[in-house]
Amino acid sequence: MGKSHLMKKSLLVLVTAWILLGCQKDKENPEDSLDQYATTYEVIQGTIWDQFCISCHYAGSSFARQSNLVLTADVSYNQLVNRPPDNSSALEDGLILVGDQGLESLYSSFLWEKINVLDQEHFYSDHPGYGSLMPLGGDPLTNGQLEYIRQWILAGAPQDGNLVDRMVLNDTSKFISPTFKPLDIPESGVQFHVETFDIQANSDREIFIYEPLENEEPLYISSYEIAMKSGSHHFILYSFPESLNINKPASGAIRDVYTSSGEYNFGTLFFMQYHEFIAGTQVPTLRYNYPKGVALKVPANAGFDLNSHYANRKNETIKGEVYANIHTIPEDEVEHLAQILNLSNDDFSLPANQVTTLEKTYTFSGERHIFQLWSHAHEHNTEFKVFVVGGERNEELIYYSNDWEHPPILQLDPPLHLQAGEGLRLEATYDNWESRTLTFGLRSTDEMMILFGAYYE
Ligand code: HEC
Repeated sequence: MGKSHLMKKSLLVLVTAWILLGCQKDKENPEDSLDQYATTYEVIQGTIWDQFCISCHYAGSSFARQSNLVLTADVSYNQLVNRPPDNSSALEDGLILVGDQGLESLYSSFLWEKINVLDQEHFYSDHPGYGSLMPLGGDPLTNGQLEYIRQWILAGAPQDGNLVDRMVLNDTSKFISPTFKPLDIPESGVQFHVETFDIQANSDREIFIYEPLENEEPLYISSYEIAMKSGSHHFILYSFPESLNINKPASGAIRDVYTSSGEYNFGTLFFMQYHEFIAGTQVPTLRYNYPKGVALKVPANAGFDLNSHYANRKNETIKGEVYANIHTIPEDEVEHLAQILNLSNDDFSLPANQVTTLEKTYTFSGERHIFQLWSHAHEHNTEFKVFVVGGERNEELIYYSNDWEHPPILQLDPPLHLQAGEGLRLEATYDNWESRTLTFGLRSTDEMMILFGAYYE
């Protein structure tokens, strides 16, 4: 008897404690800390735009100019709602940034396309012209934040009113990239496959494999796709100049850049001096389309050198594997030939135990429309900036990366138009924490300062 009474009593204590604790917990939940915001839109502004977007999207910044979008509280609502996108593919597809028609507006919202990481596969495979997912170069928004914005759009994207349950913001989980899987064979084009290979614990492995294309006619690349198993530092497709009069490497064989004792393999290095950049990425999956009518010409009987680089920082062997597709169009659909931009500064030295900023300016003798840019450097690089030199946009910062491993591949839409005599200034900062001077080198413990890209004349 007494025992059961005691049990009841302790149960009561437990329940009381649980209620008290529950109330306590309620005080910490976002519902309460969000009390300062009267409306749904104010919540979005204060907890999302202000936190993750306005570092770039503020009036006068080059990012705001590139995207024609300012997201600070004073103007963001009118910048977004019922406004056509700046991106020309999205405009052509009839999207608006955010419409006020509820559900149908969700499917025509470019803002939603740009942040909805859950649909990332669709975004990159179906809309290569839409640029990058936002926030650019950062972690995606949480699933709760996305749901909150989705419900706001479904509610007609009002400026006033408190329509969306703030509890959805409690879901702080984030999208995790899909697992690596083979690409479909292109309808018109070529697929390359770097079969699985081992990368030993705590080491780099960089390999080349030469694949002849056996194409009787020139090919015109309008788009490419790359999927890399995780852990990759980069994948690049190179070609050799048409005029090159040497025997190409044996087809299909793996050529390591380093020997097993860590020395350079000079047989591999030999061919690197002739490489011409075709396509590449440092992110696990990429689909990229050249602007409409623009294609990259590959001469008849060409061959590509496939270059895969993995940096394994784990204590166990990992496996590398890559798929790459090039998509081609018929010659009569080509309006402009794409050219590859490859600005490499290989003449520098970075003193030991010091932070150094290198600058190099490149001017072009002819007119250029640059539509793609990405930087390439190694682990001591802390910042990589690119400025316009000359013309109306003189001194404008057009490219920025603070992530040497995954620099953003920036699509410039419309392309950056440079007149003859104008150019680009590269400014790269390195923190050389080593006790030795660093110079240009291929190994990830050496340094690089390269701006890759694509343009047409
Ligand atoms: C590191 C800078 C940066 C950050 C942070 C950033 N953006 Fe962007 N944003 C850009 C650049 C550059 C573009 C243009 C290139 C592109 O679309 O990929 C852009 C384009 C956009 C566009 C397309 C505009 C148009 O009309 O074409 C939208 C929408 C957008 N951003 C929303 C956001 C939102 C929302 C956030 C925060 C969750 C965000 N961005 C964070 C740099 C940034």
